[in-house]
Amino acid sequence: MFVMSIWGTSLSLSSRSLAIVLVLCLTLLYFSYSFNACLLASISRSLQQSNLRNLLSLTSTPRNESSSHSSNDSATPAAAAAAPSANNTNTSSSSSSSSNISNVPAAVGIASKYQLLRQPGLRPSRHLPDTLIIGVKKSGTRALLEFIRLHPDVRAAGSEVHFFDRHYQRGLRWYRHHMPYTIEGQITMEKTPSYFVTKEVPQRVYHMNTATKLLIVVRDPVTRAISDYTQAASKKADMKRFEQLAFVNGSYSVVDTNWGPVKIGVYSRYLERWLLYFPLSQLLFISGERLIMDPAYEIGRVQDFLGLKRVVTEKHFYFNATKGFPCLFKSEARSTPHCLGKTKGRNHPHIDPNAIDRLREFYRPFNNKFYQLTGINFAWA
Ligand code: A3P
Repeated sequence: MFVMSIWGTSLSLSSRSLAIVLVLCLTLLYFSYSFNACLLASISRSLQQSNLRNLLSLTSTPRNESSSHSSNDSATPAAAAAAPSANNTNTSSSSSSSSNISNVPAAVGIASKYQLLRQPGLRPSRHLPDTLIIGVKKSGTRALLEFIRLHPDVRAAGSEVHFFDRHYQRGLRWYRHHMPYTIEGQITMEKTPSYFVTKEVPQRVYHMNTATKLLIVVRDPVTRAISDYTQAASKKADMKRFEQLAFVNGSYSVVDTNWGPVKIGVYSRYLERWLLYFPLSQLLFISGERLIMDPAYEIGRVQDFLGLKRVVTEKHFYFNATKGFPCLFKSEARSTPHCLGKTKGRNHPHIDPNAIDRLREFYRPFNNKFYQLTGINFAWA
């Protein structure tokens, strides 16, 4: 009887501990399952985020280029406004900075194709220009470029690329390849003075990027014409006199408006074309005369217009009496003085004052129109 009761007790004890062990095992299993599920969910979420980031950076530069490249020359700004293109969204200083989330599925397919074009982070890369110096020839365009590129946030193509007037058929990829390397936050700039007067260029620039900022240096058109002539004469020994070329039939009564140096000075005609595509707020006019007399002032305006800190100041300039023009110091510490080359700041030939008076009379109405369009009185005589 005693033995049987001990046996019964030990049986009930072992089944209770078995039940406890079972409950413990189940609890452990439940916790380990929940932990693993959480872990998996967080890994997959971070993977998705990094994929999305990659895709967004993939869609930026190539999308800008392909949409611009394939753009149709006959499209009008009004049509573009009705159906905004990729270009319309790009307003930052870096030409590849805008992205559209709706492009992501399409980008999945082309992801591998454009793998090499991916430009993440601060890695230096080439971008289409944000800012163009479009003219005007012989007004001080080289001086402007040399002065503004002293700024650490401005990088410029060294020579005139002539993409929009001579090499347009080569495409934006070709153009971008001619741009300097920049890092995020730096402005890409190019100067080709013939852009201002070439008919097709405003529309082409608009199709590249509607937010492009345009810098235009202008100078008294009479002095500009003489400067233009001086340059041409320096390349051709038997060039006729300025007075013979600027007027028809040898008298000063009829101005030859077909002669390039005279024609280019009718600024209002060219500006009207640009204003069909760009608002005045995207254009900055720089006085060629003031760029010589007070370069720091004009460069201050340019820096403000481009949203840059005023880094280039009067400390960067000095007047070189031998050259008769302002020259520059490459840094504020006044190291490495540098003047523009011999082809800038040439001596002009003597021109008959009567011819000059006649040209001034010719330009007066066009100059007034130009003052009216720009809202600036340049006070050319
Ligand atoms: P001139 O050579 O007739 O004097 P561009 O660079 O557009 O071809 O313009 C050339 C003109 O820039 C020169 O014309 C000169 O007057 C002007 N210029 C302005 N600032 C200058 C500078 N710091 N040094 C030399 N030329 C300058």
